[in-house]
Amino acid sequence: MKKVITYGSFDLFHEGHYNLLKRAKALGDYLIVGVTTEQYDESRGKLNIVDSLDKRIENVRQTGFADEIIVEDHQGQKVEDVQKYGIDIFTVGSDWTGAFEYMKQFCEVVYLERTKNISSTQVRNQSHPITRIGVIGTGRIAERFVPEAKYVSGVIVNSAYNPNLESARQFGEKFELDVATDCLEELFDAVDAVYIASPHETHYEYTKKALENGKHVLCEKPLAFQKAQAAELFELAHKQGKILLEAIKTAYCPGFVQMMGIAKSGVIGRICDVEACFTRLTSPDLRERTDIRYGGGFTEFGSHTLLPIMKLMGTDYKEVRFDSIIDKNGIDLYTKASFVYEHGLALSKSGVGVKSEGQLLISGTNGYILAESPWWLTQYFEVRFEDPAKKERYFSKFLGQGLRYEISDFAYMIHGHQGRSYKFTQEESIAIAGVMEKFLAKREAERQKRVGYEGV
Ligand code: CTP
Repeated sequence: MKKVITYGSFDLFHEGHYNLLKRAKALGDYLIVGVTTEQYDESRGKLNIVDSLDKRIENVRQTGFADEIIVEDHQGQKVEDVQKYGIDIFTVGSDWTGAFEYMKQFCEVVYLERTKNISSTQVRNQSHPITRIGVIGTGRIAERFVPEAKYVSGVIVNSAYNPNLESARQFGEKFELDVATDCLEELFDAVDAVYIASPHETHYEYTKKALENGKHVLCEKPLAFQKAQAAELFELAHKQGKILLEAIKTAYCPGFVQMMGIAKSGVIGRICDVEACFTRLTSPDLRERTDIRYGGGFTEFGSHTLLPIMKLMGTDYKEVRFDSIIDKNGIDLYTKASFVYEHGLALSKSGVGVKSEGQLLISGTNGYILAESPWWLTQYFEVRFEDPAKKERYFSKFLGQGLRYEISDFAYMIHGHQGRSYKFTQEESIAIAGVMEKFLAKREAERQKRVGYEGV
């Protein structure tokens, strides 16, 4: 009996897939089809799979060509499978010609002519028109956003806005955008969605305007400095039928999502404490250290540290207390925000002028999870127990700058697919704005007090 094997995502099952499976079956007597998991696809940079694994398997099954269907979930599996199943022929479409020469040491390799003018990517793009994104604010983070968006199918960054026209133009030229403008209306006319990467204190206004103009919004953190403002923005998005997402990239990266899942699975028992630290020494002449109202360690990096706290301990804390090391100009060089929950504790440490160990530590009644720096770009974490021999290690891919994950989820939601909003919920976003509000009120009151003393 001649055994044949082939692999694919088989997303949005189409004629090309059908033809390939038919010809693959005709190569032998027994056909095994490997269907990829979403996580495996994500790890190899394929971020926009629409159909669930169940549905993709069912579609392959319905063709009647597969004698056996298996799941492909890791790199290197193909080599294992051909040996395990005693495969005679490994086959894939001609778009892969040359990519699987190494399989020839195990079996025959056949590249089948690919069906022309059809692909999952094409079907995805036809079922949803391309989302045109405009960038508001053309600083450091925006520069990273545009190249990352290229990895996400179904979106294109076509325009940029900056109140300083020259900056907008330079950015537009650098990234070959169609529109570079200092006029918001002109930007809104050219796009379906915006990415807001302007200075912190402008996020609320820009988000509001964009939503009012019927645009989806991906807004850099912090979305707002007041709880009521964040809540108002989500309400407005809901009313307008648009997606609003706060861009804390950590929330959407696969390793972090997995870590949250494992923490909540009960493996470390009941979670009692979350400690998260993020510090970066920043030059004293940068905005982070000079903007008296909105600069400082907590407004800069607190969103990152509050994220796992809100996700694991919840948004319903009983008390929060802030202790800071304050610079001459009144901004915080370093802040500890301590939370008390009914059944637990949490601590956020963030800083722009004090360096500390950047780790995330999740403590439970059975064990703890430790993710070392840079835990916010999660690639690795450990689950540890009383017995050191029981330690478990988890690895995950984090591609490029990591912004592609949030862009992919944003596009997915714009296209009307539910199911990814759990990664960073509205409630969590609103709660983080609430903590920022409390912190800024305290810092400002203390600054006023100091100014008062100095005045005397
Ligand atoms: N295939 C084919 N003809 C097509 C499309 C796909 O023969 N028009 C083959 C691929 O070469 C592969 C298998 O079908 O062997 C599964 O491909 P998959 O990557 O799942 O489908 P694509 O349509 O290529 O997906 P995408 O656009 O997301 O890359």
